Amino acid sequence: MDLFEYQARDIFEKHGVPVLAAAIATTADEAERAATDIGGKVVVKAQVKVGGRGKAGGVKLAENPQDAREKAGAILGMDIKGHTVRTVMIAAAAPIEAEYYLSILLDRSNRTFLVMASVSGGMDIEEVARTTPEKLAKIPVSAVDGISLAKAKEIVAAAAFPADVADQVVQVLLKLWDVFQGEDATLVEVNPLVKTNDGKIIALDGKVTLDENADFRQPDHQGLVDQDAENPLEAAAKEKGLNYVKLDGQVGIIGNGAGLVMSTLDVVAYAGEKHGGVLPANFLDIGGGASAQIMADGLSIILGDADVKSVFVNVFGGITACDAVASGIVQALELLGPKATKPIVVRLDGNNVVEGRAILAKAAHPLVEQADTMDGAANRAAELAAK
Ligand SMILES: Nc1ncnc2c1ncn2[C@@H]1O[C@H](COP(=O)(O)OP(=O)(O)OP(=O)(O)O)[C@@H](O)[C@H]1O
Ligand SMILES: [Mg+2]
Repeated sequence: MDLFEYQARDIFEKHGVPVLAAAIATTADEAERAATDIGGKVVVKAQVKVGGRGKAGGVKLAENPQDAREKAGAILGMDIKGHTVRTVMIAAAAPIEAEYYLSILLDRSNRTFLVMASVSGGMDIEEVARTTPEKLAKIPVSAVDGISLAKAKEIVAAAAFPADVADQVVQVLLKLWDVFQGEDATLVEVNPLVKTNDGKIIALDGKVTLDENADFRQPDHQGLVDQDAENPLEAAAKEKGLNYVKLDGQVGIIGNGAGLVMSTLDVVAYAGEKHGGVLPANFLDIGGGASAQIMADGLSIILGDADVKSVFVNVFGGITACDAVASGIVQALELLGPKATKPIVVRLDGNNVVEGRAILAKAAHPLVEQADTMDGAANRAAELAAK
C-alpha cells in the first residue's frame, strides 16, 4: 500500500526523522487556518499518490494565510496524472540550501534491501539516475544486519555527502531504517532531503510503501487505507479474506490456486475474442480448502459485480477433492438462494472428478452447466456473457 505524503510525514515523525510542522486541509478555509497555526511562509502541497506533483503545479509556496487559501483553492480539485486532488498538506516553508536524495527499498531481483543516496536530489532525480548514474550511490543492505552505524557511515561516504552534514545524514539514515523495518515497508524515499540555510537536515517530502503481507502484525496500518480509492468489491472481498482483484471484463472467475486462476484469465480472454471481445471480470483464488462458505462468499462477491454476465468456476481437485468442491457449490447456491442470478459454467477435474460431476448433475441447478475441459468451459462462459 502506497501512503500519501502526509501519512509518510507522520510516520517519519513517530520514528524521529526530522520533518517540518504540517497539517492537512480539504478546503481553502481549512488551508488558511492551518497556515495561520503554522505561521510564516508555508507550502501548499497536493496529496496524490503519484510522482511529479511539483512539476504539475501541485506544490506552491504561499506568503501568508490568505495566499495559502488561494493556492489551496487552486490546487484542490486539480487533476494530476489522472488523480484528483482531494487533500492538500500545508507545511512550513524551509529555507533550502541544498537538496539531497535518500531511499531504502526492497530489491527483489537481488533478494536484498538497497539504499540509494545522492547529493543531487530534488525534482530531477530520475534525470540524474539516467544521465549521470555515478551520482546515485547504490548500496545493498543485508536483511540480517540492516543499517548499522558503520553501514550508515559507509553509505554517507559513498554518496559523498558534505562533511558539515554527514553526521546528521547518518542519524537520519538510522531513523529511516527504523521506519523501514519497524513499519514493514518495501519503500521509504525522501526526495528532497534538504539542508536548510542554518545547516539543519530535514525530510521535506516522503514516499512510503507498506508491505500488506505484514498487516497481521501492523494493526495501525488499517487506518491508513484510502477509503475513497478502494474498490467496494475488493474491500468486501478483503473483509472475507478472499484473494480478489476486480478487472474490467464480463466473465466472473473463481478458481483454486493462483496459477490456475491466472491461466483461466488467459483462456477466457482468448475465448472471448470469438465472442465480441468478452474479457474476465476478476481474479479470485479461493485456495485449497474450498468450503461451501468460501464458495458462497466468492460467488456472492462476483454476483454482486454489475459487470458480470456469466461465471466460470474452474477447479482442479487436489487435497480438497472435486466432490467436496461440488458439494460446496451446491450448498453455496442454496445459501445464496434468489441472489444467484447469472449462469455458472463449472469445470471440474482432478481428484474424485467423477463423484464431483455426479453431485452437480444430481443437484441440477438451473443456472449451472458443466463442461469437460477448461477451454470448452471458457468458450461457453464467454458465449453466455456475450448474449
Ligand atoms: N516545505 C517546503 N519548503 C520549501 N520548499 C519546499 C517544501 N516542500 C517542497 N518544496 C520544494 O518543492 C519541490 C517539490 O516538492 P516535493 O518534493 O514535495 O514534490 P515533488 O517531488 O514534485 O513531488 P513528488 O515527490 O510526488 O514527485 C522540492 O524539491 C522543494 O524544492
Ligand atoms: Mg519529491
